[in-house]
Amino acid sequence: MNLLEIKQLSSQSLRKLVTSGLQKPESLGSPLSGKTAALIFEKPSARTRHSSEAAIVQLGGHPVYTRGDEVGMDVRESVEDITRVLAGYHALIAARVFDHETLRRMAAVSTIPIVNLLSDLEHPLQAIADMITMAEEFGDLSGKSVAWVGDFNNVARSLSWACALLGMHVRLACPAGYDATDEELQGLLAAGAPSVEQYRDPRLAVEGVIAVHTDTWTSMGQEEEREIRLAVFSPFQVTAETMSNADPRAIFMHCLPAHRGEEVSADVIDGAQSRVIRQAHHRLSSARAVFAWLASEGAQ
Ligand code: CP
Ligand code: NVA
Repeated sequence: MNLLEIKQLSSQSLRKLVTSGLQKPESLGSPLSGKTAALIFEKPSARTRHSSEAAIVQLGGHPVYTRGDEVGMDVRESVEDITRVLAGYHALIAARVFDHETLRRMAAVSTIPIVNLLSDLEHPLQAIADMITMAEEFGDLSGKSVAWVGDFNNVARSLSWACALLGMHVRLACPAGYDATDEELQGLLAAGAPSVEQYRDPRLAVEGVIAVHTDTWTSMGQEEEREIRLAVFSPFQVTAETMSNADPRAIFMHCLPAHRGEEVSADVIDGAQSRVIRQAHHRLSSARAVFAWLASEGAQ
């Protein structure tokens, strides 16, 4: 079993991971006892590296971190050779990569689980942390509504699939050209979302939602597009006015790193409705739940 994309999970598996993420860490035992796990990062990270390393240690294992350029994927040797070699040492390989295809190539030759720690396409461990955070706040999420405001990027895609699998209404406010494809919208409905709506006005998208999510307008690897993106996305800043159109209980969520005054105003991200630090802390809950599951028999 690998975790490259949220849609590889069944609704039942995702529900179990969310439940597991809300349990006391000790209840997961030590499924990585005496084992090691490889962590490979082609891009910078704070939350993902720290939470992954901490989770592996808490599950009884030992993380082995290497930068992508140190391993030299497709430079020093092929991705396939590196994967085959590391698969003989470790219990799992988790990687943050520029190109999602790299993860697919790893999965194609690996004899141990491959985990996506963020690619250009998806960020599954983030989405599971987001579901844990919302479930902790609101209980059963089925039938509730969630909004994504901004770029339909890796984080948005994983979150939307996770929400669909748990039966949530998905409401998207993205600029034209930076939104979900029709195929993705159909896929979300097929995965279990009772409705998927697209808006151009964030104030309409957030009506009735229990959580408003956003992310940076310029993801890692898109730095050359920053000026264009700042102009395109400026009407999509989440402000206090945006939040006032959501359910009165609504929380604000952001995977971080955040850019105050760009995708979110400082009063919202630093205000009473914000759950971004709790959400970041649940990256550890998410990593523990996923690594424990992959290390156990149930995922084989
Ligand atoms: N949210 C997230 O993945 O943060 P890092 O890039 O710091 O890991
Ligand atoms: N969408 C962002 C998420 C960072 C955690 C990026 O890919 O850079």
